[in-house]
Parts: sequence; C-alpha cells; structure tokens
Amino acid sequence: MPEQSYDYDVLVIGAGPGGYVAAIRAAQLGLRTACAEIRETLGGTCLNVGCIPSKALLHGSEFFEEAHDGSLGKFGVKLGSVELDLTALQAEKAKAVKELTGGIEFLFKKNKVTWLKGQANFTAPHSVEVGGQVVTARDIVIATGSSVTPLPGVEVDNAKGVIVDSTGALALGKVPERMVVIGGGVIGLELGSVWRRLGAKVTVIEFLDQLLLGMDGEVRKEAAKIFKKQGLELRLSTKVTAAKVAKGKATLTLEPSAGGASETLEADCVLVSIGRRPNTEGLNLAAIGLETNARGQIETDHEFRTRAEGVWAIGDVIPGPMLAHKAEDEGIAVAENIAGQTGIVNEAVIPSVVYTMPEIAGVGLTEEQAREKGEVKVGKFPMAANSRAKTNREPDGFVKVIADAKTDRVLGVWAIAAVAGTMIAEAAMAMEFGATSEDIAYTCHAHPTHSEAIKEAAMAVTGKPIHM
Ligand code: FAD
Ligand code: NAI
Repeated sequence: MPEQSYDYDVLVIGAGPGGYVAAIRAAQLGLRTACAEIRETLGGTCLNVGCIPSKALLHGSEFFEEAHDGSLGKFGVKLGSVELDLTALQAEKAKAVKELTGGIEFLFKKNKVTWLKGQANFTAPHSVEVGGQVVTARDIVIATGSSVTPLPGVEVDNAKGVIVDSTGALALGKVPERMVVIGGGVIGLELGSVWRRLGAKVTVIEFLDQLLLGMDGEVRKEAAKIFKKQGLELRLSTKVTAAKVAKGKATLTLEPSAGGASETLEADCVLVSIGRRPNTEGLNLAAIGLETNARGQIETDHEFRTRAEGVWAIGDVIPGPMLAHKAEDEGIAVAENIAGQTGIVNEAVIPSVVYTMPEIAGVGLTEEQAREKGEVKVGKFPMAANSRAKTNREPDGFVKVIADAKTDRVLGVWAIAAVAGTMIAEAAMAMEFGATSEDIAYTCHAHPTHSEAIKEAAMAVTGKPIHM
C-alpha cells in the first residue's frame, strides 16, 4: 500500500502510560497518529485503577492513621475524636483519577492525536478494526497492558466485594473487619497497608518464604520486620488452595507451600494479588502471524519491533518489569524509532518503588545479583542516623549502595525510607551517568534531607561514613 493511502502513520492500541505517551510523542514528531482504547477514559490501568487511585488511598490513609493513633500529638497537633469518612476519601480518589485521565484527553487534543473508542483487533497486516470501523496504519504499536492473574479456586467478584482483585480493593465501600491478602508483592503490601491503616485486621499470605520477590534480600527481610511491627500478620511459605463465599464472608483453605496439614481462615474481604498477565486475547494476533511466548508476552527487539512487519510492542505486554515509568519510556523510544530516530531504554536502570510507609525502592542489581557477577563492595547507612529522618520521627530503614569492587562503579542502590521513592531518582541518575560510589560521596547533598543517607551509604562503601 503506498504511504499516503494509510489512514494513519501510527496507530497505538491501548492508552495506558505506554500507549498514550507513544501516541503523543509520535504526534510531536509530525506523524499522523491515532490511539485506540476500549475503556471509557484514557490513562490505562495506571491512571484509572492502578498507580493513581492506589496512591490517593495510601496518602489519605496515612493522614487518617497519624490523626487517629495520636502520633501527631508529639508535634503539638492535638485532635479530638477522629473518625473516618470513607465516602469522602473515595470521592477524593475519584476526583484525582478524573482530573488526570481528563488531562490525557486534553494532551491528545493539544497534540492532535485521534482517540478511537473501542476494542481493537487485527484484521490483516497494517489493518485493525476498532469499534466496528476498519483503520489502516503504516506502523502499529501494541500497548494493551496487563490484567490480574487469576488464582484457580479463588474466584474474584468485585461487585460482591468479598473476593476482589486490586480494582475491587480500591473501591471498597466499607472497611473490612478482617482482610486476607493473597500475594505478598507490591499490590498486596500497598493495598493491605491502606486497609490496615483504615482499621482492618490484615493477614498477608505469601507462597514464598519472603515478601517482595525480585528485591534485594536484606531489603525483603527488613521490610517484613517493619510490616509486622505495623500490625500486618504475615503468613509466609503458605498457599491458598480453595475459597468459599457464604453470607458475605469468605472461608479460605490454606496449607504450607511445601504441602502438609490444611487449615481454614475466615475473612470479610480477600484480595487476590498474585501478579499480572499480559493482555493479548482479543487482538487476533493470528491475522498478522504473531505469537506470544510461554508467558503470554509479545517479544520484541531492543527497538520494540515485533516479528510482524510494521508492528511494535511496549509496556506490560512485553517482557520486563510491569511499571508505568518503564512503559512511558518505552512509549517515547518506540515513537522515536518509528520516526527514524534512535529511541533507547536502559533496562539496567529502571527504578522500582513500593509506596508503603516507609517506602521501599531500588534500582539496578540486588546485592545477590551483583555478587553472582563478581566482587562487590557494599556501603550501608541506617535512616535512624539520618538527621532529617530522626527529626521527623521516621527512623525505619536504611540505604545500601552496591559498587563494583575494582572499578567502584555503582551497580545498585536500595532504600527503605519515608521518601525512598523520591530519593531513588538520584541513584538512577547517577547510574545512568556511570557514577562511582566516590562520585556520589563527593556530591554535595543539602542538609537536612533524607537524601544525605545516599551520600553516607556511598561514603560507607569505602568505610568512611561520617555520622555512624
Ligand atoms: P495499561 O496501563 O494496562 O494500559 C493498557 C490499555 O490498553 C488499557 O487501558 C486497556 O483498556 C487497553 N486495551 C487493552 N486491550 C485493548 C484492545 N484490544 N483495544 C483497545 N484497547 C485495549 N506502576 C508503577 O510504576 N507505579 C505504581 O505506583 C503502580 N501502581 C499500581 C497499582 C495497581 C493497583 C496496579 C494494578 C498497577 C500498578 N502499577 C504501577 C503498574 C502500572 O499500572 C502498569 O505497569 C502500567 O499501567 C502499564 O502500562 P501499559 O501502557 O503497558 O498498560
Ligand atoms: P507481584 O508480582 O508484585 O507479587 C505477587 C506475589 O504473589 C509474589 O510475591 C508471589 O510469590 C506471590 N504469589 C504468587 N502466587 C501465589 C499464590 N498462589 N499464593 C500466595 N502467593 C502467591 O504482583 P502484584 O502485587 O499482583 O502486582 C502486579 C504488578 O503490578 C507488579 O508486577 C508490579 O510491577 C505492578 N505494581 C507496581 C506498583 C508500584 O510500582 N508501586 C504498585 C502495584 C503494582
């Protein structure tokens, strides 16, 4: 087909952080761009039922806990009786989601991206049907994201609100008395923390012997200690084998992961958060001769090209961490590659953050991964020795800098701290520029800030921290 006879230069399927960013950058680069989205609003999982609503509830529930448990009293904030208005909190969350999804609509208009409403499926190479209309494009980007992995025997029904996934757990109309979270990963710990702060008794059931699969070992252990201290009950090395719902309550059957005697546990609400899987069903990939890998993901090369001519893929639907900022960076890179430029994402430097209190963040290799590759030096600094954290009464956690023993190049940075998510940006920037631990140690950090703990941990790599 001659170039000009395509309806669009670029068609992006999915308007999550991967897709909407790809569409905007493609339009900025002068390409005639459309973006198909099945949801009523733009922004994908992240803005509608992920990053944004979860952070609204995390933020609000932190305020509630601090006001309710009297911990503000020592700072001179004396409150009378404190009560929760869950309807107001949910409304504030909905307002943030509306503002942010509306913001993407505005950006689409501003950049002249056409929003095609409906489910998209391939009909032939360069050709896609969206909401009953067939559109053609020279380049097509699959950015369809991911959905909750189901757990056989534990059926999610968000409408009933007894066994829910993350979308249901973000929308509960009342605080459950007893909540069970299946999966001690990011979603389970963030949303488990929300409902615990709001008054639920929360038990986290994790199949493995540690929480937070994929994070640094020491961070995983310390995080478990902190969560226990906060009142989350942790049942590690345990699996759920069945669930029954009757009279608004669930009865779960549990047994040790390695097998053994089973027991039952009752809950008013069960959150299933055992991971997410890529969305490819309904795309009719067969029409373009594209297959998924064993994990259901679409494989791409480093430029985000799939094996099908003119078809690219980014975000949660391809291998790699399922994170909004990874999807966004891939969105920019893929659009630049389509436009003939060089779009790159450095897979080695993608930070990840768990937005609990304290936050848990990391970038680069874990200490275990780094030691497997060669000799390393590790510097650690406790938040209890950081003046700002101490003053704010946020003593939990530490920062850890892992550097190559020979070259001193920073290989990974991990932090548990009240603002670890903000602090980790500095570490990512340093690693992107190939910094050594000495570079960080000799960079002037403002005082008093939590970030000084990164400088001190870097100084500790050579055994010379000042405040420890
Ligand atoms: P998505 O955001 O999933 O967007 C894909 C879009 O494609 C969807 O809107 C979908 O409706 C649409 N779509 C699918 N198939 C079709 C089709 N055939 N036709 C048309 N449209 C289609 N990540 C972070 O980095 N930080 C966080 O704090 C964070 N919090 C999270 C909290 C929760 C509760 C959840 C569930 C996830 C969270 N994530 C977070 C992960 C983050 O949401 C995802 O990594 C991110 O949204 C992936 O972006 P994406 O563009 O690949 O896909
Ligand atoms: P996850 O992969 O983070 O954690 C799932 C946990 O469930 C793992 O620890 C796993 O061992 C455990 N598990 C698996 N099967 C189990 C079973 N049968 N019984 C008990 N435990 C079981 O997945 P989660 O929390 O569902 O989140 C999905 C994705 O969403 C993550 O990959 C994450 O990247 C993204 N996300 C990111 C956030 C952030 O960046 N702050 C917040 C929320 C989600």
